[in-house]
Amino acid sequence: MRTERHSIRSVTSQNGLLAVQWGDGHESRFHAIWLRHQCWCPECGTPETGVRGIRLQHFDETITLSGVDFADTAVRVVWPDGHRSEYPARWLRNHCYSDTERASRRLAPVLWDATIAAHPPSGSLAEAEADPAARLRILEAVRDYGFCKITDAPKDSAERSRMIDLVGAQRQTHFGTYTLKTKKTVTNVGDTTGPLDPHMDEPYRYAAIGVTVFQVLHPSSNGGASTLVDGFEAVRRLKESWPEDFDMLCSMQITCQRFDPGDNSHGNERWYKSRLPVIQLDEQGEVCGVRMNERQISPLDVPADQVVPAYRALKRLFTILYDEDLCLTLDLKAGEGLLFDNQRLLHGRTGFTPETPPRAVLTSSVDLDDFHSSLRLLQRDLDPDAMHMVLRQGMAG
Ligand SMILES: [Fe+2]
Ligand SMILES: [Zn+2]
Repeated sequence: MRTERHSIRSVTSQNGLLAVQWGDGHESRFHAIWLRHQCWCPECGTPETGVRGIRLQHFDETITLSGVDFADTAVRVVWPDGHRSEYPARWLRNHCYSDTERASRRLAPVLWDATIAAHPPSGSLAEAEADPAARLRILEAVRDYGFCKITDAPKDSAERSRMIDLVGAQRQTHFGTYTLKTKKTVTNVGDTTGPLDPHMDEPYRYAAIGVTVFQVLHPSSNGGASTLVDGFEAVRRLKESWPEDFDMLCSMQITCQRFDPGDNSHGNERWYKSRLPVIQLDEQGEVCGVRMNERQISPLDVPADQVVPAYRALKRLFTILYDEDLCLTLDLKAGEGLLFDNQRLLHGRTGFTPETPPRAVLTSSVDLDDFHSSLRLLQRDLDPDAMHMVLRQGMAG
């Protein structure tokens, strides 16, 4: 669909810049070097596939435009050496790097607290499998709220790939696809029956797992409800009350580790350690990832004068995180599930009583980049302008 936003009123060449006047009144200015580098003619190739003949050494960064004009849906440029380029109008507008357009491509997350219990985002797996628009709504909920409840997840672990396929390609870690069950020898707290404080999973990895795919095969008849906390809202509250603690946790590297004696899908010992900040900011200073798991914080390796302030900051953060005011409790039944962003939300569960057959829940994961790939592909067909939104990259910044 053509809109005022994508229609060109005029183009002019000014001091090495291409100025485009759009139907909605906005003006974009593109540097000649930017345009030359993004020529997608058959000779220059495309960065989408990486089959690319163009090399920056072949022209100067102060290259000029020899000629510019436009047709209905494209801008055409002629270069000093006679090379010709053509840029689709919509593509140009969606890549405009004016301050206002860059800001409009950044989607703010919807922060939430315990009151979201009245209307948690939810969707149907069967509907998503039948209708791409329904699938897109689920993925948009995970993007915006950090989670989506699934009302009709498979009760049979043999069908687990249906839930994973909803989000993207499965990330295999040493856990494989893990079914949490009560066990005699415990090296994973998920296999116990006590309550679990809100935490993220696998903070000891350089690249933590992204979206957790969670489905209840067999619930407990007494407790074992799932809990979720919005880590972005928690750090917003920390920043509001204790800005110096917020700053410290954005910059200080905290070690998390995990020793696994072989109780994993490979049966081999594993010993992971990573050093990362608790709060990750992007280049605009916005929170884009959090990494909080109190149980896996290892000996602090920081300058001596920062030890006490670091513990003060961590204590304040965990006090906010464990506050009931932030906690959503979902008593999921067999055949219900969750998708949640493990680099934004924290999850836990209430305690329960052992019984036969035992409570069994299945977890798998999909990396954030694979989740975002699925989102982008759905948007390409259903909401093409949204495909160019800048997505928060979690702990990758
Ligand atoms: Fe967990
Ligand atoms: Zn070219």
